[in-house]
Amino acid sequence: MAPAGHPVRRARAPCEAMTPARIIIGTLGRFEGVQRPAVSHDSIQPVRLVDVDAGNRDAIVRLELAPSQREFLPDTESSLEMASRYPDARALGVAVGDHIVGFALIGIDESTGYWKVFRLLVDVAMQRRGIGRRAMELLLERLRDRHGADHVLVAYQDHNEVARRLYASLGFVELDRVGSKVTAILSDEAARRPSQE
Ligand SMILES: CC(C)(COP(=O)(O)OP(=O)(O)OC[C@H]1O[C@@H](n2cnc3c(N)ncnc32)[C@H](O)[C@@H]1OP(=O)(O)O)[C@@H](O)C(=O)NCCC(=O)NCCS
Repeated sequence: MAPAGHPVRRARAPCEAMTPARIIIGTLGRFEGVQRPAVSHDSIQPVRLVDVDAGNRDAIVRLELAPSQREFLPDTESSLEMASRYPDARALGVAVGDHIVGFALIGIDESTGYWKVFRLLVDVAMQRRGIGRRAMELLLERLRDRHGADHVLVAYQDHNEVARRLYASLGFVELDRVGSKVTAILSDEAARRPSQE
């Protein structure tokens, strides 16, 4: 049964209301280090979470991060392999239109019993367009609506400032720190408080 209240803040510009015709997509080539024109959040096609299957697995494995981001996550193939070993784990593609642009892995944290977003990544060529934030909102909605989660965990390296700020803006607060690894938690109560960021 889903808990009362809404565990996530609403998107600033709901993707459902966006105009698909205005999307700038189709160039998923690698332009690492090249400055792309800013694309406003309200010009993006709806972001969707899709199951991983034989038709999109290769695209998920081909997702790339910037060299400076690669220390934050293992490669996606290892994450898919990990997902296959845990019955509660769900590997999901992040899609914009028909294009796979990211990957997420959710599952139950063994030590706390809480649901956790183990992985979230957006291909370097598609970052900074609001996709990561929207994907995270969809993951939280899914965890609440399908799994009844009233607490959700994330973990990130303490120098991963983009992840830290993104999660904090959604209401996550630091729970635990082991070495450079920070675990943060979102609870219904925390989600209702205004963000400090
Ligand atoms: C974290 C990640 C998923 C965000 O994806 P994204 O699609 O770029 O995120 P968004 O475009 O929704 O941006 C989210 C916020 O981060 C900010 N941001 C994103 N990339 C940034 C960067 N390189 N520098 C500064 N700010 C950045 C955005 O401005 C945005 O802030 P706002 O919503 O307040 O305007 C992506 O950077 C990524 O894949 N990183 C590598 C893997 C990782 O660290 N995963 C998380 C830990 S498991």
